[in-house]
This record gives sequence, C-alpha cells and structure tokens, in this order.
Amino acid sequence: MKGDRHAVLTVDGKQFKLPIQSPTIGPDTIDIRRLYGEAKCFTFDPGYTSTASCESKITYIDGEAGELLYRGYPVEQLAEHSSFLEVCYLLLYGELPSAKQLEDFECRVTNHTMVHDQMNYFFRGFRRDAHPMAIITGVMGAMSAFYHDSTDISDPKQREIASIRMIAKLPTIVAMAYKYSNGQPFIYPKNELNYAANFLRMCFKVPPQQYKVSPSVSKALDRIFILHADHEQNASTSTVRLAGSSGANPFACIAAGIACLWGPAHGGANEAALLMLREIGTVDRIPEFIKRAKDPNDSFRLMGFGHRVYKNFDPRASIMKQSADEILDEIGSENKPALLVARELERIALEDDYFRSRRLYPNVDFYSGIILDAIGFPTEMFTPIFALSRTVGWISQWKEMIADPAMRIGRPRQMYVGESHRRYVPVAERPG
Ligand code: CMC
Repeated sequence: MKGDRHAVLTVDGKQFKLPIQSPTIGPDTIDIRRLYGEAKCFTFDPGYTSTASCESKITYIDGEAGELLYRGYPVEQLAEHSSFLEVCYLLLYGELPSAKQLEDFECRVTNHTMVHDQMNYFFRGFRRDAHPMAIITGVMGAMSAFYHDSTDISDPKQREIASIRMIAKLPTIVAMAYKYSNGQPFIYPKNELNYAANFLRMCFKVPPQQYKVSPSVSKALDRIFILHADHEQNASTSTVRLAGSSGANPFACIAAGIACLWGPAHGGANEAALLMLREIGTVDRIPEFIKRAKDPNDSFRLMGFGHRVYKNFDPRASIMKQSADEILDEIGSENKPALLVARELERIALEDDYFRSRRLYPNVDFYSGIILDAIGFPTEMFTPIFALSRTVGWISQWKEMIADPAMRIGRPRQMYVGESHRRYVPVAERPG
C-alpha cells in the first residue's frame, strides 16, 4: 500500500525513515519533504537527474524503453490516427473527446485565432532582423496587457479562457513574427482551415496570389505539432511551473517557458541541427566534425544527438524520420545537400563507439528540422514552431499545478560554497 514502504537514511549515526511512493508506472520515489525539518540536511541534485519535482497525470516517458505516453496513449498511435487539436483536448482534459466535444473544442479555438488589432503595433516596435523567438517571447508576455479578463488564476473560467486564447493565437503570432521578418503583410487566419493548414497559409500566402495548402504538408506539420505537444518535466515546462507557482498570470508563465525553450540544448536544437548540417556541407567533411564532437577539449556537440531521458531511442525521432522520408519523396530531395549529410552522419554516428557507448542517438530535432526546411521554413522559424506545439503541454501542466490544493511556491535550496562570514573593510583599508 502507498506509504507503507520506506527507505532509511543514516546521517551521523542517526536514522531517518523516508516514505517510498509508488507511481502508476515508473520508478518509485523517495519522499524527502520532511528531511530538512527532521535531519537538517538538504539533498543535492543539480540538473534534477534523480528528483521528481511534482506529481502529474499528463505525460509519461520511459527513457530505456523509448516510450512516450500522453494521458496513457502511446504517441505513435496519436501521431498516426489523431489530429493536433484532438491531442490538445486530451492533454488539457485527460480524455479523448467525443465527436461533439471535439467539434465544440475546435470551434472554441477557432473563435480565438485573431489577435487584438492593437497588437500589430507591438510587432512594428521590433527590428526586422529580430529573431522570431525574441518577438514571440515579448508578444506572449504582452498578452497579459490585452486580455485582463483572463489573468485571475484563482478563477477556473478565466484559466480556461486564457488557455484557449494561447492555443488559438500562438500560430497567428508566430506567423506574424515570420511575416514581419521578411517584410510581407500579415495574413489573417482563415477559420475554415484546420490548425496546421491555417498556420501554413498565414506563413506562406501573399496577397496577390492564391495559396493552396498541400494536404500532405499540412499532415506532416500536424504530426510535428503532436510529437512536440508535451514532454513531462523538461526545462521549459519546469520553468512554466516554477513561474506559475508564484501566482504569476498565465501569459507571463508561458512567455517564461518560451524563453527557456530557446536555448540550443532544448528547443533551439532543431535550428542548431540544421545549421550544423549546412556547416558540414558535404559528406566528405563528416569525419572532421565527428572527431570534434568526440574531442573532450572541444565544446562542439553533434546537435540533434543525445537526450537526457531517452537512452536507447527517441520514439518521436522514429516517427519524424518516417515523416521526413515521406515529405521528401513528395517535395523532392534534390538540391537538399543537408539531407545527404544528415543521412550519412546518422549512419556513421550510429556505428561509432563513442556515440554507441554513451547511448547518443538522433533525437526528434534532428529530423524535424529537415522536414521544416523541406516545407520552406527558414531555420529561425524552427524553434517558434516547437514553441507553438508545446504551448498546450505547458498550459496543461500549469493548469494541473494551479488546480492542485497542495501547490506551494517552488523554492529550491542550495549548497553554499562561497566565503563564510567576513567583516566589511572600508576601501581605504583594503590592500593594493
Ligand atoms: N555530441 C557529442 N557528445 C555528446 C552529445 C552530443 N550531441 N551529447 C552528449 N554527449 C556526450 C557528453 O560530452 C558526455 O560525454 P563524457 O561522458 O565523455 O563527458 C556524455 O555524452 C553525456 O552527456 P551529458 O551532457 O552529461 O548528457 P545530458 O543528459 O546532460 O545532455 C543533451 C543531454 C540533450 C543536452 C545533450 O545530449 C546535448 O547537448 N545534445 C545536443 C543538443 C540537442 O540535440 N538537444 C535536443 C534535445 S531533444 C529536444 C528536447 O527535448 O528539448
């Protein structure tokens, strides 16, 4: 029974009993909440490799088995049979929707796709060459200045409206950031299109020409959205939870998540991976880069390889690889030297002892960048598209946390290794 089992910790000869909690699936957790109060010591786990920061019912990852479940459903099944908005419903509310519930949900999201007209001026305040992630972080944070009726986090209705608004408006905001960067006019959303098709149209349509969305491209993009929708307590999600634990408004919390996602070790990896493939340029240069990646004195890493949790394979990468092959068959892989380099790099790295012994495999970002490039997105748009997909995950995790009566402000402790007490010395008395 939960709570019956315990671990025993001995500190300076004194024993402390720590309850062991069993999750539905996954490793047991040792509950150390009372440790400091009783034993007067902290645990030390920078990078949180052995620390569960919360209870959650949303997403489960088994890194050894290469398994990813959203609310219990394997991501492979969702990527094959579901749509992104259906997955959003699942993540937010915990169950797959009935046909009627899905229709209502799609309608609610569609009703919120436009942004407040005044927000257009926000975009014009940025330099044209600003990275779209910088723009999106700013505009998401600014939403709290526009939608005052959905910032009271103690009201479940307001939390719900804020959630729908962010899921609905992010594609519009990301597309506007793109249009702004290339000097084209903003394209308004077209609500009869599905989520991915609408986003593609807002990015690629120009007023003098018709734009017809390719169903297979829209499907491939929808799949990218599904595969990136949530990933339990990763860096950006933990950022959102930590920001939210202080009671900050939802738009500010999601803006914090977007800022964290930007880093090259996290969401920025898809952009970094394609830039790396381009830098390598030709297949004959691969050995030089592999050598650099293996050199402990060189900070270079093979971007798109390795994962903190997946140690055998990333299930999202297998689906993405298949999607990349399909889309490149349709669009054509000629004039795509990055693709040739990617395929050869993958082959060589998978045979190399360095990568095998450290269990470094291509991750989702290795292939998603190739697909986005084939669709026609510039590399700066890769991480914004990741942010767009992950917004529903961040929101679901934030809502789960706010609704939990046990929620407290997140406040990690530290192991202080600085100077001990010192007496202030007036500047005139200091040496030198
Ligand atoms: N290329 C070369 N060596 C690597 C790589 C890589 N991509 N990744 C890890 N290593 C080596 C690392 O040098 C270390 O070697 P040693 O034991 O000799 O010191 C060993 O593998 C373990 O690395 P680590 O840094 O302790 O592993 P981590 O779990 O802290 O890092 C990671 C995980 C994803 C940050 C890292 O693998 C990495 O930087 N990969 C490249 C960036 C990338 O593709 N990130 C996207 C992750 S998937 C999207 C997402 O979920 O955000």
